[in-house]
Amino acid sequence: MKQFDEIMQEDIRLINEALDRILTFRGETYDEVIEAMRYSVMNAGKRIRPVLTLEFCRMLGGKPEDALPFACGVEMIHCYSLIHDDLPCMDDDDLRRGKPSCHKQFGEATALLAGDALLTRAFEVMADSALSEKNPAAAVRAIKEMAYFAGADGMVGGQVIDLAIEGKAVSAELLTQMHCLKTSAIIKAACKMGAICAGAAQEDISLAEQYGENLGLAFQIVDDILDIIADEQELGKPIHSDLSNDKTTFITLFGMERAQRMAEEYTRKAYAIVHGKDRGAFLEHLITSLLERRK
Ligand code: IPE
Ligand code: IPE
Ligand code: MG
Ligand code: MG
Ligand code: MG
Repeated sequence: MKQFDEIMQEDIRLINEALDRILTFRGETYDEVIEAMRYSVMNAGKRIRPVLTLEFCRMLGGKPEDALPFACGVEMIHCYSLIHDDLPCMDDDDLRRGKPSCHKQFGEATALLAGDALLTRAFEVMADSALSEKNPAAAVRAIKEMAYFAGADGMVGGQVIDLAIEGKAVSAELLTQMHCLKTSAIIKAACKMGAICAGAAQEDISLAEQYGENLGLAFQIVDDILDIIADEQELGKPIHSDLSNDKTTFITLFGMERAQRMAEEYTRKAYAIVHGKDRGAFLEHLITSLLERRK
């Protein structure tokens, strides 16, 4: 699909320009935390989540620009989750997006605060957008979804399970629930917010959530596979992190081949959800390409 790369690049350009504006502060007192926030956002992130927000909005009849504050919001929340995920009290990883992790560069306290400040900035930007919206109720609903999926019933809850099961044998059900929470939750929010910004019907908002859930499951299984087989430089983060933290993954539970087949199965499910939809081609192509990613 020739157009796919062009659309992706155009979306990423829009997102990066907006993030740059959002992370430009007037105050000079807190230079270091601002530097740490920018360091952790304005870099080589793949921007999958904000692209999903823009493209769900487009597929369901909206203008991608209308969803831009929400796309930036989800990326800032994702970046905060990565800063905290790398801390010594969590995965203790020193490399992120090809550079020293935030706490390696700025120290743990600043990294912690930069994560906090990204999380709150995200909600400030989304709320600002709600204030200037023609349809503030829809914007508030999008914000509520984001808060729910980032919190204790979403990503944070998944991270709690991830840490609690280190070194323990767990069931496939619990592992799937953990993936759903720690990874699919933020991705579901990204997709749903795009649908909500387009003014989509409830049925399509639910489809966006299901696509996000399946994409997230496939995405985390591939992430766990890459932790074993990727090239560290290409991946931009440490390989064998899961092994050194004694994490239970789909690979430790089922072996490489079955894990790969499970990722393919979730990919097929997500594909089927957008297949045949008007303007669905980008999201069909995106889910397929993520299966073959090397980073
Ligand atoms: C990494 O996400 C964290 C996971 C949920 C697996 P990405 O692979 O999207 O990381 P970036 O944003 O491109 O750095
Ligand atoms: C991360 O899962 C999920 C988050 C909520 C950040 P991982 O711990 O596997 O992510 P990476 O591999 O460090 O990016
Ligand atoms: Mg982790
Ligand atoms: Mg990690
Ligand atoms: Mg990982």
